[in-house]
Amino acid sequence: MKVSIIGGGGLVGSSAAFALQCGGVVRTLALLDVSAALVEGQVLDLLHGGPSTADQVIEAGGYEQIADSDLICITAGLRRKPDESRLDLINRNTDLFVSILDQVKQAGPKSSAIVLVVSNPVDILTYVAARKLDLPPAQVLGLGTQLDTIRFRSLIARELQAPPTQVSALILGEHGDSMVPIWSSASLGGLPLEKAPGWSANLGAQIFDRTKKSGAEVIAKKGGAGFAVGIAIRDVIHSVALDQRRILPVSSVQDGCYDVRDVALSVPTVVGRAGVVDRLEVELWPKEVQGIRRSGNALRQTLQTVLQRIK
Ligand code: 2OP
Repeated sequence: MKVSIIGGGGLVGSSAAFALQCGGVVRTLALLDVSAALVEGQVLDLLHGGPSTADQVIEAGGYEQIADSDLICITAGLRRKPDESRLDLINRNTDLFVSILDQVKQAGPKSSAIVLVVSNPVDILTYVAARKLDLPPAQVLGLGTQLDTIRFRSLIARELQAPPTQVSALILGEHGDSMVPIWSSASLGGLPLEKAPGWSANLGAQIFDRTKKSGAEVIAKKGGAGFAVGIAIRDVIHSVALDQRRILPVSSVQDGCYDVRDVALSVPTVVGRAGVVDRLEVELWPKEVQGIRRSGNALRQTLQTVLQRIK
C-alpha cells in the first residue's frame, strides 16, 4: 500500500511517517511539502532508520505521487497559536486547504483512494474535502477525535497508575471545544471504570478538562503535537491498509447517526480498506447523545461561514 503525506515536512506529517515506518505495514511512504529542503531532510532521516525497521520505499516528491497513492493524508496547515481555538484557525487554513484539494484533484487520484484529513479544524476541512473531491464520501475521513481518545485514555491511566492499553474510554463529536466524553462505556481491564479503585466523578471531570486542553497545552510547551498525533494517524491508516475494520472515532460526513446530518464529526466508525465501512449508533446516555448533537450544531454554524467563503 502506498501512502502520500501532504505536509510531510512538518511536525505532524513527519511524525505520522515515523509512526508508519515503525509500524512496518505500509510499503511506500511519499512525503510532499511546500519546503523541498525540509521534506528531503525528513525522508533522509527516516531512510537512515530503515535497516532496523522495515523494508519500505520512502521518498520525497510532489503531486505526481498522488496518482498511484492508495491513501492520501493531508496534514498541511498553519498551526494554532496557544490561545487560538481550532475554529479560529479556519480562515487562515481554509484557503490553503482548498488549494491543496485542487492540486490533489488535478493529480488524478485513484477512484479507490482514501483521503485522511488531519489539518485543523479537522471536522470542517473533512466536510470541505468530501464536498470538493470527486470521491465517494465514505472514502474521505478525518482524524476526528482519535487523538483526543488516546489522550483521554493516557490521562486516565496515569491518574489510576493503570496500564494505558487496558483503559478503554472514548471521545466523540468535535475535535474541539465541544468534544464529548463517553463515560457510559469507559472501562479498565474490562471492568467498569467508575468501580476502579481511586476513581471519582470529580477526577473524571478533571481528566476530561485536561484532555480537551491537551492540544493547546502541548502547543504551549513544545509548539505542537507530534508523537501522539502520529500514532493516532497510524491507527487509522493501519485499519485501512489491513482492512482491520476497527471501530474508531474518526470524522466523516454524517447522514443520520445519532440524528446528525450534513456535518462531519466523530461517531463510532468501522474503518476498513474502503474507508467508512459502517457507523455504529450504539446506545449512549441521553446527555452523551445530546453532546454529539451539540457538536454538530456548533460545527454547522462555522461550516456555513466557510462554505460561503469557498463558493
Ligand atoms: C491537537 O489536538 C493537532 O489538533 C491536534 O494537537
